[in-house]
Amino acid sequence: MGYRSIMVGTDGSETATRAVRAATTLAKSFMGAQVQIVCAHGAGGVDEEVAKEVLRYAREAVRAQGLETRTHMRAGDPDSVITELAERQGADLIVVGNVGMGKARRFKLGGIAEQVAHGAPCDVLIVHTTEGDERTEPYRRVVIGTDGSATATEAARKGFELAEVTDATVTLVYVGDPLIGAIVLEQTAADRPGSATVNSRVEDGDPAERIVEIAGKDAADLVVVGNKGFAGARRYLLGSIPVKVAHESPTDVLVAKTVGRSIDDLAPGHGGLVDVGGRKLAVYKAEDGSVVALSPRCQHMGCTVDWNDADQTWDCPCHGSRYARDGEVIKGPAKKNLDREELVEPSVG
Ligand code: FES
Repeated sequence: MGYRSIMVGTDGSETATRAVRAATTLAKSFMGAQVQIVCAHGAGGVDEEVAKEVLRYAREAVRAQGLETRTHMRAGDPDSVITELAERQGADLIVVGNVGMGKARRFKLGGIAEQVAHGAPCDVLIVHTTEGDERTEPYRRVVIGTDGSATATEAARKGFELAEVTDATVTLVYVGDPLIGAIVLEQTAADRPGSATVNSRVEDGDPAERIVEIAGKDAADLVVVGNKGFAGARRYLLGSIPVKVAHESPTDVLVAKTVGRSIDDLAPGHGGLVDVGGRKLAVYKAEDGSVVALSPRCQHMGCTVDWNDADQTWDCPCHGSRYARDGEVIKGPAKKNLDREELVEPSVG
């Protein structure tokens, strides 16, 4: 996972300022992550002069933490401005407060939750900004919801990797049949990257309600769910579980995007994690269009490596292993090269 570019929206309100602080805290956990701060003005946002001032204040606050930052000011509705910019700038995480920004503030979560349900370009962290102390520490207790589907398993992997980076314990929750749940949870925990301590829970009832309830009981500070609905909830609108959890959880909520880019989305001379026939691969595309496909599983403890465009390497966020474009290990603790993968479908790019 290894977030490198974290985009956060602010309108200068106290709740948005808390979201900026949460983004800063997370960026510090992922050493070297850049914080991109966005302020929308006009139609749905603040006026232009205020936007400039809001961005100046936020930029100084982030820089004071020793982090690299960029600011963006755009006219338009805050929710669309953030998601469009995230797409264009290649952000891998959007951070927003759980109270909408600008005119959207009258709706809890604004339109962001809907964007999440219908395809934000990256993961979205919804920061619980309405009550209690604000976050200045990394996450320590993480609740991950899963139904055992491939997409939920992918979301769980992201949750485990985040737990590894922040040294958190994990409560893994399955809602549904106890026998199936026991198998799903055992498998998910056994395949987890890293070495986070895991407590498993099989629950009955409404998935979103149970997850929210457990987060409260466990005094968790983060819930992780995938951006697709759970199996038991397919009769509802796709994405209703993450939206419901985001609305009701007493914690921050990470909605993990589980469907990625394809090889055709990679520009020549760049690498990235892509979906190939349902598999996630680490692919580098050379200037001549030829590609190198690797398993993204770090050879140390199985976290997912991510592309570092500045150094043209594959870096692991968990304990700092680094690999060359062709998967050769450059820096440990990993001792073996990334595995080569066959491409089932040749690239057309
Ligand atoms: Fe430890 Fe990658 S899992 S460095």
